[in-house]
Amino acid sequence: PVISRHDYAPPAFLIDTVDLEFDLLADHTITRNRMTIRRNPDAVFTRRLELMGEELELLSASIDGHACASQLTATGLVIDDVPETFELTLVTACKPAENTSLSGLYVSNGNFFTQCEAEGFRKISFFPDRPDVMSVYTVTLRANREAYPVLLSNGNLVETGMLEDGRHFARWEDPFRKPSYLFALVAGKLSCVEETITDASGQRKLLQVWVEAHDLDKTRHALDSLIHSIRWDERRFGLGLDLDRFMIVAVSDFNMGAMENKGLNIFNTKYVLARPETATDADYANIEAVVGHEYFHNWTGNRITCRDWFQLSLKEGLTVFRDQEFSADMAAGEGNSGGAARLRDTGSAHATKRIEDVRMLRQTQFAEDAGPMAHPVRPESYQEINNFYTVTIYEKGGEVVRMYQTLLGREGFRAGMDLYFRRHDGQAVTCDDFRAAMADANQRDLSQFERWYSQAGTPRVAVRGAYDPAARTYELTLTQSYPDNPAIKTAKDPLLIPFTIGLVGPTGTDLPLRLDGEAATSTPVFSRVFELTETRTTLRFVDVPVEPVPSLLRDFSAPVVVEYDYTDAQLAFLLAHDSDPFNRWEAGQRLATRALLAAARAAARGATPTFDAAVVDAYGLVLRDHTLAPAFRELVLTLPSEAYLIEQLDVADPDAIHRARQALRRQLAGALRADWLAVYQANRLLGDYRPTPQDAGCRALKNLALAYLVELDDASEAAALARDQYDVANNMTDRFAALGALVHLGGDEARTALDHFYRMFEKEPLVIDKWFALQAAQPGRPDVPTIGIVRGLFAHQAFTLRNPNRARSLIFSFCAANLAEFHRPDGSGYAFWAEQVIALDAMNPQVAARLARTLERWRKFTPALQQKMRAALEQVNAVVRSKDVREIVEKALAD
Ligand code: ARG
Ligand code: ZN
Repeated sequence: PVISRHDYAPPAFLIDTVDLEFDLLADHTITRNRMTIRRNPDAVFTRRLELMGEELELLSASIDGHACASQLTATGLVIDDVPETFELTLVTACKPAENTSLSGLYVSNGNFFTQCEAEGFRKISFFPDRPDVMSVYTVTLRANREAYPVLLSNGNLVETGMLEDGRHFARWEDPFRKPSYLFALVAGKLSCVEETITDASGQRKLLQVWVEAHDLDKTRHALDSLIHSIRWDERRFGLGLDLDRFMIVAVSDFNMGAMENKGLNIFNTKYVLARPETATDADYANIEAVVGHEYFHNWTGNRITCRDWFQLSLKEGLTVFRDQEFSADMAAGEGNSGGAARLRDTGSAHATKRIEDVRMLRQTQFAEDAGPMAHPVRPESYQEINNFYTVTIYEKGGEVVRMYQTLLGREGFRAGMDLYFRRHDGQAVTCDDFRAAMADANQRDLSQFERWYSQAGTPRVAVRGAYDPAARTYELTLTQSYPDNPAIKTAKDPLLIPFTIGLVGPTGTDLPLRLDGEAATSTPVFSRVFELTETRTTLRFVDVPVEPVPSLLRDFSAPVVVEYDYTDAQLAFLLAHDSDPFNRWEAGQRLATRALLAAARAAARGATPTFDAAVVDAYGLVLRDHTLAPAFRELVLTLPSEAYLIEQLDVADPDAIHRARQALRRQLAGALRADWLAVYQANRLLGDYRPTPQDAGCRALKNLALAYLVELDDASEAAALARDQYDVANNMTDRFAALGALVHLGGDEARTALDHFYRMFEKEPLVIDKWFALQAAQPGRPDVPTIGIVRGLFAHQAFTLRNPNRARSLIFSFCAANLAEFHRPDGSGYAFWAEQVIALDAMNPQVAARLARTLERWRKFTPALQQKMRAALEQVNAVVRSKDVREIVEKALAD
């Protein structure tokens, strides 16, 4: 069944309080749910109460203390002839140990956890499980004290005590009204690190990170990240922690990254646990970002929540934007006391974060927008809401929020946020409400901006420039359009696009910007945000002394594709000189993309890909430029990914793309060999590991150098460096990069290193995930296709499909990150994909649906591959049972 946004109707009944009592047993948990209910005066009159429920056994139902009649339906429970206001008590049973979907109440490593967003609460009790029903919750947990010494739920702990038979109990009260998706409980053998801080208003707050005891040594970074998040939200948005305590709990079986349950965030261990020996720089950065993200949800998501799931981006887009800003500020040293040394790099630290975020957006969200799952930031319909926790809702949604700040300025954006909280605190609202707050706080008409929420697809902005030397004018014409995508049914009206422009003069400095008809200002402006509102906009700049090179969409001011016919020389020029670091990087990417696509076409015809020396020279200049931060140089010198390149072609041949990219890597390795070696030596850090962006940048550049050096025909030097780095590394970033280099070189040495690594980290599941992922992502050799290695690892004793992180580490790393091998012409990758989607479908539909999506772009590929992919999709379609996978596969196959 398709759920449509336009079918929204307010709930017929409201639930003011919920009193839950759990008797926790792994194979049979009893839940008593006592609710005070009243008819909603703002809804259509009815006496029929409809509650949602799944996989529940109803033991009793009573209204105001008297047993009442009820009917179980396919989707829940119906009770007729209910009074105006009443107390309903339901007693139900569920089976947490059998719950492999990891939605609802489940058991992981012997402990109880819950995941209720989006619709998991209905597996815990019958309930109007929708975000616009908000209630005050009291929760009592009862369980055996030895097996489950720790009992946690939302809010404040109000009572604990012993019971008969070795059991104990804990009662929690959450003073804030909340939707059922924010309910959580945790019970089991867990330990915590804690710290009490004094917040901006002078109140004491208890902060805890709960993990299994053997992981206590990996909690400091998460706790620090939480403290930094609290400080940042106080400073940047004037928002404080509204509870006396805030808890983070780590669980190893988890479908997503983490969950913002009120006062009791539950996290995938991957986004909590870190120490230098086991976690990479990327892990450290991700932990900081995810801890921030979940904490920031307390205001943008929990205090103000979504009216319905079509508004999901209201909380997710806004919270992604907030976590991106937090990470950027932290990297720039603004998040803590950080000294002058950290502040020096402020500009480039912000740019580095921006480049990483945009690279991800363009590789994944632009692809989603071009495929069968394309949907607007505020979707019109869905079959399974779990399929809509997408990069469009999250990352494009984050870009949409960022555009308000670009249009209104930082202060205007803050004024909009303040008004949003004044108006809507405690409510369940819509994306329109957020836009209205931004508009009203700034006396702006933002009605056209709604199209960013309602229209799917990635807009194109085609730009043409014309210089008139006699008139000293430069004219830019910008034309908006949408590419064709049969999956998109929404309008294609012109958007309000904030488009930041600079004009770079021949010496490499920006020219002052003045439009025809504007008065000259006393202080020249070199970079400006122009608001495109029409299909075509013409900007006529006056007083332009020489023909400039336009620097377009600086800092990626809108999530669009810019089309401009740069020459290679202009791109090399921008790469060397643009004052906007994002566009410097962008120029390098454009240069490489163009060369790689030409080479891939040649490779597909059987020709050997070759590259212009100019491309190599442009990269060499950046590599040798010591005024540039190492992190930035690493980003520039990382070639566009195969996934990104595939999206740039109408008919993609992954093998040809892989060969082209490898050829350019080898050419860059050979031509710049001495530079790579110098950079490798110059960026070796001595001393203790610190996960700071500066140190991480040095390691990233050094390890990129190593990755290039192992591409050389004579890699003996690189092998020695890798061996030595593997042996002496005091941190996982360096050890894992060295292992990657050794695996790339192959042979006995690779085998030995992999075995050594496995034994060393056998007891660290998150590291073993890396071990699986590295092998699944390795390039194939003519005689040994990677699929054989993957199938071998599938049978490894440490492999299990049940644990999502482990399943992702092997299966997704192959199907989504090893494109040339996954798309082998014999179809062996697709057969493996179909097997795994079908196996996961019966166990964990959410993870299965994510895997199913790795074939959704099948129409992008060569006819021979398409045919085999379609067959695999049809094979899955014939047997699939979950609506999660069904929606993905049906949409992929639709004409
Ligand atoms: N709200 C969570 C977050 O963004 C994600 C939870 C998604 N869960 C799901 N089953 N779809 O942090
Ligand atoms: Zn979120």
